[in-house]
Amino acid sequence: MTANIAFPRYSRIGPGAINELPAVIASLGLQRPLLVTDAYLSRTGATDRVLTLLRDAGLTASVFDRTVPDPTTESLDLGVESVRAHNADCVIGFGGGSPMDSAKALAVLASQGGPMRKFKTPNSYSGPALPIIAIPTTAGSGSEATQFTVISDSDNDEKMLCPGLSFLPVAAIIDYELTLSMPARLTADTGVDALAHAVEAYVSRKANPISDAMSLSAIGLISANLRRVYHDGNDHLAREAMMAAATQAGMAFSNSSVTLVHGMSRPIGAHFHVAHGLSNAMLFPAVTAFSVSGAVHRYAECARAYGVADPTTSDEIAAGRIVDALAELCGDLEVPTPKSYGIDHDTWTQLTPLMAQQAIASGSPANNPVLPSHDDIERIYADVYG
Ligand SMILES: [Fe+2]
Repeated sequence: MTANIAFPRYSRIGPGAINELPAVIASLGLQRPLLVTDAYLSRTGATDRVLTLLRDAGLTASVFDRTVPDPTTESLDLGVESVRAHNADCVIGFGGGSPMDSAKALAVLASQGGPMRKFKTPNSYSGPALPIIAIPTTAGSGSEATQFTVISDSDNDEKMLCPGLSFLPVAAIIDYELTLSMPARLTADTGVDALAHAVEAYVSRKANPISDAMSLSAIGLISANLRRVYHDGNDHLAREAMMAAATQAGMAFSNSSVTLVHGMSRPIGAHFHVAHGLSNAMLFPAVTAFSVSGAVHRYAECARAYGVADPTTSDEIAAGRIVDALAELCGDLEVPTPKSYGIDHDTWTQLTPLMAQQAIASGSPANNPVLPSHDDIERIYADVYG
């Protein structure tokens, strides 16, 4: 099997990298950026800071700050109008995964028209679109380095995975100082999301030597630093390491794939509006336990990268330890079960068959080391409820 490897054309990584945004845009020959972000970043003044940077450099910049968490097709309509009204020649996704994913969708929709549904997997879109510049303010989604966007269909609550090179940012600005103000809960949830990207990319049937290197590096960095940033958000060294890990993990899964954790997580997010990283965390230990037998050596390598096994530990023992380590991590990070999160048991049970069907339809479970049946997925949903 041939692996197709793609990364952003430019990245600027380091403290203060945000100040290089105008230079990056100029180097791409672009003039009229639309800054795509959310109301929270506007309230904190971060949006104005970026707009001022752009305008002081002589660029004609405008802003659309009405993106929503878990972006919906409906939320994009106003954004498309903003792109057209500004006659934007590029979009800047500024924020967590949701603003970046919104910017990606707008880049394609403004050029090609909708509906967004026509871009969902198994389709892959690499045609005309506005160039995308991505600036993450969380260390998690990795969207700055991926060729995917995830958009919920407002008609039926389906979280659609939309792949293709046109969704890959042409440039990324990766400045960990933007993550210093993240609260502990968001820090934990986004960090576990990044860990899921790294582990899933490594055990995926689409893994390759490039994604492998990115995965193992990310796993080691997250293991060493996630608890640190959870307990002390102002730990600069740990924040910097988490930011690097999140981007590496994004590069890993963009060039490999995610698997069953993400496949099952998206429907939870769509139906119960659980934050993406949190719904991954609710599933991560149980899905890993289910999947280990299909790739014992690969999970053992994850355990060694994570630091809970060494080269002398047998693969069987090491693979078991990564399952235990994930459960312990989720405990330390106070990840709730769906039950303790407040999800009604009857509603959960009622929606389980539909969620299982949507999980399989996303294509991600097909890359899992153990291929799950519809019944397997329903059983895991039942097991993790709490
Ligand atoms: Fe994710």
